[in-house]
Amino acid sequence: MTTIIRTSSLLLGTVLALIWQCSQAWTLQNTSARAASIMEQVHLDLLGLNSTLQEEKKILMAASEFAFYRATARVYYNDLIQNPPDSLFPLGDVLTWIQGDCHVENFGAFDNDQGDIVYDLNDFDEAFLGDFRYDLWRATVSIVLVCKANKDIISDWSIAVCQDAVEAFVETYLSMLCSFVGNGDEKTYFVDSDNAYGRLDEFLDDVQAGDSREDMIKKWTVKNDNGVRSFDTSLEKIVAVNASVKASVTQAMADYEQTVASSLQGDSDYFMVKDVALRVKAGLGSYGTLRYYVLVEGPSDDQYDDLILDVKAQQDPRTYIVSNSTIQLLVMSSSAVNNHQGARVTEANRALLNHADNALGYATIDGQAFSVRQRSPWKETFDTSVLTSDTRIVKLSEQWASILAAAHARSDNDYDDSIVPDSFEKAICNRIGSPNQDFIDELWDFAQSYASQVTADFSFFTAAVAP
Ligand SMILES: *[C@@H]1O[C@H](CO)[C@@H](O)[C@H](O)[C@H]1NC(C)=O
Ligand SMILES: *[C@@H]1O[C@H](CO)[C@@H](O)[C@H](O)[C@H]1NC(C)=O
Ligand SMILES: *[C@@H]1O[C@H](CO)[C@@H](O)[C@H](O)[C@H]1NC(C)=O
Repeated sequence: MTTIIRTSSLLLGTVLALIWQCSQAWTLQNTSARAASIMEQVHLDLLGLNSTLQEEKKILMAASEFAFYRATARVYYNDLIQNPPDSLFPLGDVLTWIQGDCHVENFGAFDNDQGDIVYDLNDFDEAFLGDFRYDLWRATVSIVLVCKANKDIISDWSIAVCQDAVEAFVETYLSMLCSFVGNGDEKTYFVDSDNAYGRLDEFLDDVQAGDSREDMIKKWTVKNDNGVRSFDTSLEKIVAVNASVKASVTQAMADYEQTVASSLQGDSDYFMVKDVALRVKAGLGSYGTLRYYVLVEGPSDDQYDDLILDVKAQQDPRTYIVSNSTIQLLVMSSSAVNNHQGARVTEANRALLNHADNALGYATIDGQAFSVRQRSPWKETFDTSVLTSDTRIVKLSEQWASILAAAHARSDNDYDDSIVPDSFEKAICNRIGSPNQDFIDELWDFAQSYASQVTADFSFFTAAVAP
């Protein structure tokens, strides 16, 4: 009798442990082997940089858990491929373009091709075809990290505040996605100060009022004795290039002109190069990446309607880790991408956004692939330290989710059915639907448990790089 009871309670224990394991989407790894693996991956990312840039990047990464997370997409994707979180349905059988490095600081303000100041995804370096949950997981972990960073400024903070924010994000993502089924509304949706709410409309009004193209030109350039503008090389973020670099960049711009929106294609007056400089000390994940600023004439010879083109070296995206050769071939050999990593970034930008910048394009400089876009005069980042209450972080999380849902929905067959043949939102709504508490729970489990992993990894990193 006692044996039977013991056996069944043992069994019960095993079953409970199994259920517990299943509901724990991520199991914390806190061993010295983990620490070694983190440092190995960090060093792999630093390999391409000289010693000065390596030190500068490490200092930036040591600033906060969120900064560290931003710079370690490699770790994130390696973890997910090795230990895919349990989910309601299998990974990878419904694909769309994904942003690929979807943390909340890759949303920002800028102007679209209609001159509206919008808040949207603003970085496509890692974008590729993939399972949408790679964006959802990365975004919700970043929300937990922002929420934890604001622990001391959010009144009555507890982990429940972070849970509210993540749940609001996932719930809104699903409801927005399902609201687009069958009507194409995602193709007209964008967020500007008219429909933004919480703290976001105020932010967008401030950006609109505070920034202008003239201010941008004045900030980055100076007028020489002949009245011609060139980049201000006294700025910390601008470094002069020599004549041969300037010549190869200028030459590459002639081919770039053929890759922009049809309204500007081949307009060599518009894209007449006035100056070229190195743009340094930019970004975090891509810190140290070769990047040029190119000053071009713009619509007229008025010195304040010039454009600053942001010309950035591109390589294989991090998302390749969770992709395979069939998908890579499908995207890279498509006519729009033409086996060019700069074209891949530009194509993702056009697929994921409404009214994407007309000057988007790509170039090849000395055999290397570059993406090209204009630097928006209204390029600003929302300061998350104003998220001082549960309501504020929840409202912004809802809007991050709406933007992402619209981006995923419009980048499917709405954009190019030779790359994504079917409707993404229809497939996901049939599978998951809205609302779906199990899916919300699944995302929260992962986000909070993986955020703890980031905390642990950050400690390994800071201990290893401490002076
Ligand atoms: C590393 O590269 C940066 C930017 O190109 C440059 O400013 C710096 O002097 C270089 N440092 C070393 C040690 O080569
Ligand atoms: C590649 O990935 C796609 C999408 O996840 C999948 O459908 C396909 O079966 C994979 N192909 C191979 C050869 O693994
Ligand atoms: C110009 O600068 C590039 C990049 O720093 C360098 O590789 C090249 O040797 C320089 N060329 C001349 C002529 O100084």
